[in-house]
Amino acid sequence: MEKRVAVIGAGSSGITAVKNLVEAGFNQVVCYERRDVIGGLWFYKETAARWNDEACVNRSTVVNTSKEFLAYSDFPMPDYFANFCHNSDVEEYLKKYCKHFGIEKYIKLNTEVLSLKKHRSYESTGKWEIQVKDHSTGNESLEDFDFVIVANGHHGEPILPKFPGLENFQGVTMHSRDYKDVRSTSGSRAVIVGIGNSAGDISVELGKCMKVFLSTRSGAWFHFRLHTSGLPWDYYYHNRLGHFLRQILPRSYRNSKVKDKLKKRFPHDLFHLTPDFEPDDANPTLVDDLTDKIASGRVVIKPNIKLFTKKGVIFEDGTFEDNIDLVVFATGYNIVYPFIDKELLNVQDNKVSMYLLMWLPELTKNTLAFLGLCQPIGSMFPIAEMQSRFIAKVFKGEIVLPSKDDMCKEICARNKWQSSIYHDSPRNTIRVPWLPYLDQLAKAVGCKPNMYKLLVTEPRLFWRLLTGPGVSYQYRLEGPNAWPGARHAIFTVMDRIKKPFATRPLVQRNASWGKQFVLMTMSFVVFAAATFFASEDSKWYLKCF
Ligand SMILES: Cc1cc2nc3c(=O)[nH]c(=O)nc-3n(C[C@H](O)[C@H](O)[C@H](O)COP(=O)(O)OP(=O)(O)OC[C@H]3O[C@@H](n4cnc5c(N)ncnc54)[C@H](O)[C@@H]3O)c2cc1C
Ligand SMILES: NC(=O)c1ccc[n+]([C@@H]2O[C@H](COP(=O)([O-])OP(=O)(O)OC[C@H]3O[C@@H](n4cnc5c(N)ncnc54)[C@H](OP(=O)(O)O)[C@@H]3O)[C@@H](O)[C@H]2O)c1
Repeated sequence: MEKRVAVIGAGSSGITAVKNLVEAGFNQVVCYERRDVIGGLWFYKETAARWNDEACVNRSTVVNTSKEFLAYSDFPMPDYFANFCHNSDVEEYLKKYCKHFGIEKYIKLNTEVLSLKKHRSYESTGKWEIQVKDHSTGNESLEDFDFVIVANGHHGEPILPKFPGLENFQGVTMHSRDYKDVRSTSGSRAVIVGIGNSAGDISVELGKCMKVFLSTRSGAWFHFRLHTSGLPWDYYYHNRLGHFLRQILPRSYRNSKVKDKLKKRFPHDLFHLTPDFEPDDANPTLVDDLTDKIASGRVVIKPNIKLFTKKGVIFEDGTFEDNIDLVVFATGYNIVYPFIDKELLNVQDNKVSMYLLMWLPELTKNTLAFLGLCQPIGSMFPIAEMQSRFIAKVFKGEIVLPSKDDMCKEICARNKWQSSIYHDSPRNTIRVPWLPYLDQLAKAVGCKPNMYKLLVTEPRLFWRLLTGPGVSYQYRLEGPNAWPGARHAIFTVMDRIKKPFATRPLVQRNASWGKQFVLMTMSFVVFAAATFFASEDSKWYLKCF
């Protein structure tokens, strides 16, 4: 297809967009990436951010959605990867993905998009004009495209709250995005603001060598990467039956069950962490090691900050911590599009009005789409992948989007659903339910597994999809660009989960419970018989026979 498509950004969203566009028949694809590497925020960078909206993991970041759920639908992660692998593994995986599907040749590294505007012929052609700067030569140029996908990420521009007195504080302050590792800090007392996953990770790390005060205005429900069985949390959370039950059971019942479970695992009240919202109402904070740090007093939970002094912090409960060397604002991110005119897209307080979180309803042509602009309780890679498959079909005219009015209705309904569930915070403005959202797009793309058909033709696969882990390989069983390896990948999930643990041969020294029971019963019978025959009474009994 000769139509030109631009993809802005070569993070985990942009590269899967390129792959799926090419697979859908677009061969004039150009992906602009301003950095000199692919992988977006998963490529850890030792140096400071070059752009105000440049995202980056910390040196020690490990994923919080497990590898089987992170994987794209036709490219499982290597079996030897840890289930919650390190950022360097994710980077390696993304590179492998690009190599395997021949994506590199479509990516222009060191090339920044400076502006994205409607082409002068937009009203008749739907075209876009992109101004790019090649950082290796310094040259700027204008390019026309028939279609554009924006995949610039939304974890780049820090939210930096203003607290009274902060301007006079003499310690070091930074945002969690700019925190690299403990070696880049000094001092012995730190305050971390916020209680999302960044705050959790950094508190655990700093808590090993500093006294940490973790300040939270809302509190949090603590979840764990590992289920009590030792398997990843998402292995149990994301299955079709579970999602179905979550939809039909009353929220209050669901939440009370989750609260009971979480409180059994970790006493939120005792640790003064219980928030005034329900577990369903916020992004989960996964904190396997944080509970230990709180128990050992290395991390102390505090309320919101009231005031900074020159060297310390006064909290809202009036308590004061002096001699604070470091403050890390783990306070989340603004959604920004610095290269798009405010007239076209103006995001305030992270609120976006997009149909399916991809399309601007006011545009007269559906030639511009946004990718990866979601916050699911689940993994982002399969979502960006499914969005790409959907977008490619819209660009090809195979999916027709609803009218502007109908799009606006969907946006209103989603906002209503969102505000009825999630607590009001900039981190909760782009929520989607993971499996239902994937299913919704998959249905339109034509790759949603047909459960009724499977019940009749392949009951084993049906049962696995209903009750087993809802991994994204299921969206390659049928429909466009199905993958012959999908069925096998679904049935071998547990093998790949177990593989990284199999690092030492196990010696079976103890007999099984069954054997132990038989042995114990036999020993008891022998002991009872011996006691009986040795006793005086036995002679009397035997005489009777
Ligand atoms: C610390 C951290 C940990 C996370 N852990 C998980 C996890 O475990 N599981 C999960 O599912 N999600 C996780 N996420 C969410 C994460 O954002 C997504 O998983 C995903 O990687 C985002 O990919 P992206 O491509 O949309 O954005 P990014 O990775 O941010 O990539 C955007 C790319 O666009 C480029 N770009 C931006 N502007 C321009 C421009 N003007 N011109 C050219 N190029 C541009 C950037 O350089 C970058 O390479 C995490 C997020 C953070 C911050
Ligand atoms: N290991 C990992 O995989 C990992 C690590 C880090 C981050 N992540 C991901 O990256 C994304 C961003 O996470 P994040 O933790 O950086 O940000 P986040 O989830 O947006 O959390 C921000 C935290 O800061 C608080 N906050 C915001 N503004 C505040 C203010 N003005 N005053 C006081 N507190 C304020 C929020 O409280 P309220 O709730 O009250 O708003 C919240 O606790 C998430 O998707 C997360 O899952 C993953």
